[in-house]
Amino acid sequence: MKSLARLAGFWWASVAIAAAQSEHPVANIFKPQATPADSVYHLSLLVLSVCATIFAIVAGLLAFTIVKFRRIANDENEPPQVYGSNRIEMAWTVIPVLIVFVLTMATARVVIAIQNKPVPKDALHVTVVGHQWWWEIRYPDLGIVTANELHVPVNTADRPAFAFLTLQSADVAHSFWVPQLAGKTDVIPNRTNTMWIDPRVTGTFLGNCAEYCGMQHANMLLRVIVQPQADFERWAAGEMTAAGSQARGRAAFLSLSCVNCHTVSGTSAAGTFGPDLSHLMGRTTLASGMIPNTAENLRAWVKDPQVIKPGNFMPNMQLNAPELDAVVSYLSSLK
Ligand code: CUA
Repeated sequence: MKSLARLAGFWWASVAIAAAQSEHPVANIFKPQATPADSVYHLSLLVLSVCATIFAIVAGLLAFTIVKFRRIANDENEPPQVYGSNRIEMAWTVIPVLIVFVLTMATARVVIAIQNKPVPKDALHVTVVGHQWWWEIRYPDLGIVTANELHVPVNTADRPAFAFLTLQSADVAHSFWVPQLAGKTDVIPNRTNTMWIDPRVTGTFLGNCAEYCGMQHANMLLRVIVQPQADFERWAAGEMTAAGSQARGRAAFLSLSCVNCHTVSGTSAAGTFGPDLSHLMGRTTLASGMIPNTAENLRAWVKDPQVIKPGNFMPNMQLNAPELDAVVSYLSSLK
C-alpha cells in the first residue's frame, strides 16, 4: 500500500514537472537559432543522410535476398557454397573506412570552426559552473551571480551580441546542452571548457545536463533567456544593485567553508568553532577586541586573518576582490 502511494507520488511529480516544462517549446535540434547550433544541425543532416542511405541499401539487399533466394517447395538441393571473395571483402572494408573518414573529417571541421571562433572584444563573458544538480551562472565583468537561468542579449544586425561561456564543474562531470543554441559541451572537474552563443531570436530556450551525473541528472534543467539588448541591460542593472551584492555575498558565504565554523541565525551556517556572526554589526571590535569593527578592518580580516592575528584558526579563504566585496557587504548587513 505504501509503495503504491509512493508510485502515485512519483507519477504526480512527473506530471507536474512535464506541465511546468510544457510552457516552452521542447528543446529541438532541428530548429537552430544560433551559429553553433546551425553547424551541428547541418552536420546532423549529413550524418543522417549517410546513415539513411546505408540503411536503405542494406535493408534493400536484405529484402531482395530474402525474396529472391527463398526456399522453394520440394527443392532439396543445397545452393552452391561460396567460400571467401577478395573483391567483396575489399569492398566491405574500404567503403566503410571511407565513410567513417568522411564523417570524421566533417565533424572535425565543425568542432574546429566552433572552437577556434575568435572572441569579439565586446563579448559578454559568462562562467557556467555545473553542480549536482543545478547550474551556477556568473558574469565576472558585471559582478552578477545567479543560477539556472542564463540571460543573454539577442544578436541582431545593428546590435551584434556574442556570449562567451566558460564551463566548469564544482563536482562531477556534467554537460552543457541547449539544443537550439549550441551542441553539447562537457563540463569536467578541474578543466575549463568553452562554448559561445549568438542567438538571433528572443525567447526562452530549454536546455538540460547531457552527461549522467547522479540521481537528479534528469532534473538538471537550464533555461536561456534571450532578450532585446535594452531588456538585458535592465535585468543586469537590477542584479547589480547593492542588494544584489549582499545576496551574492550571502551566497558566497554559505557556499564556502565559513559555515563550518560560524553561525548566522536563519541560515544554514551553524558552526560553533568560531564566533556567532548573527549580529556582527552590533559589536564594536573584531578579532576579540584587537581592531575596531569598521568596513575596512572587516575587509582586511576576511581577506587574510593570519596577517592581523597570526596563528589564529581562521584560514585565508583566498577570495578574489569581487568575492571579498560581496562577502563583506553581506557581513555588514548582519545587524
Ligand atoms: Cu549534471 Cu547530468
